[in-house]
Amino acid sequence: MSEVGGAELYQALAPIYDDWQASDGMTPFALVTGAKLAPLLEREARARAALGARATGRGFSFLDVGCGTGTLLGSLRAQQPTWRLAGLDASAAMLAVAARKPLAHTIGLVGATLDRPFPFVRAFDVVGAFYDTLNHLPDPPALARAFAALCAVVRPGGLLVFDLTNRRGFERWWRGRNDFSGPGWRISVEARFDPTHEIGQAQVTIAAGGAPSRSFQLLERHLPEPDVGRALMAAGFAVERTEGWAPFAADVEGKTWWVARLPSNSHINGRIDVVP
Ligand SMILES: C[S@@+](CC[C@H](N)C(=O)[O-])C[C@H]1O[C@@H](n2cnc3c(N)ncnc32)[C@H](O)[C@@H]1O
Repeated sequence: MSEVGGAELYQALAPIYDDWQASDGMTPFALVTGAKLAPLLEREARARAALGARATGRGFSFLDVGCGTGTLLGSLRAQQPTWRLAGLDASAAMLAVAARKPLAHTIGLVGATLDRPFPFVRAFDVVGAFYDTLNHLPDPPALARAFAALCAVVRPGGLLVFDLTNRRGFERWWRGRNDFSGPGWRISVEARFDPTHEIGQAQVTIAAGGAPSRSFQLLERHLPEPDVGRALMAAGFAVERTEGWAPFAADVEGKTWWVARLPSNSHINGRIDVVP
């Protein structure tokens, strides 16, 4: 895959992404994620406050990597007016949709990719990456670079939380054809999973706004759990929990939910950061 994270696909999808996510009575994936994530964030925020965040002048903070159109951040903001919230995404078109939402002026939105260091250092109590964002990485070296970049933005003692589509999910969801439609748009997704190369391939055809339909190929990689665990450890994280997750009711646990913590005496570039 030459482009980063399906860049051309997300450029075409951005204007209709939110409509698609809410079509046919579906709950947008970002809101399903938000329901699972909120109790964890609230626990971390309480722990942060107990550590004396007020004394250091820093409120609780959360960064959503691969934030897309900002739905998760918007729902968190509606519940948590004082948290520092930020989102990062490789797609300028997805971020442009996020930036037009009502509470966007209270959220930092940054265009960046997981392939290189981010423009923040040790800045967030919790960093998340959801809805397959890390499955978009093309190979194990890219995953190692991503975890190194993520390690540099989590404050020592903070958390990295993410989901990955696991083998069950690729086998269950990455097969056959699915059609979606709404006012003025149609999306057709034809997918298959190649277990030998651990790659899911989707042909996504989009027709919107009366323009001729266009097709894009999306590749996502199945990342075996032992490889992910090793890559996290190599980047300096300690895995706290992994669990199967069935985000769609009455379906397989096709995702794995990962929670990893950066030790509070972790160091970066030879410097030791200790957070009170
Ligand atoms: C399936 S969408 C999920 C968006 C959002 N998290 C949600 O739940 O609706 C995946 C997002 O990851 C972003 N992405 C993929 N690869 C990326 C990379 N290497 N760096 C930054 N963002 C990336 C895409 O641009 C896209 O917005």
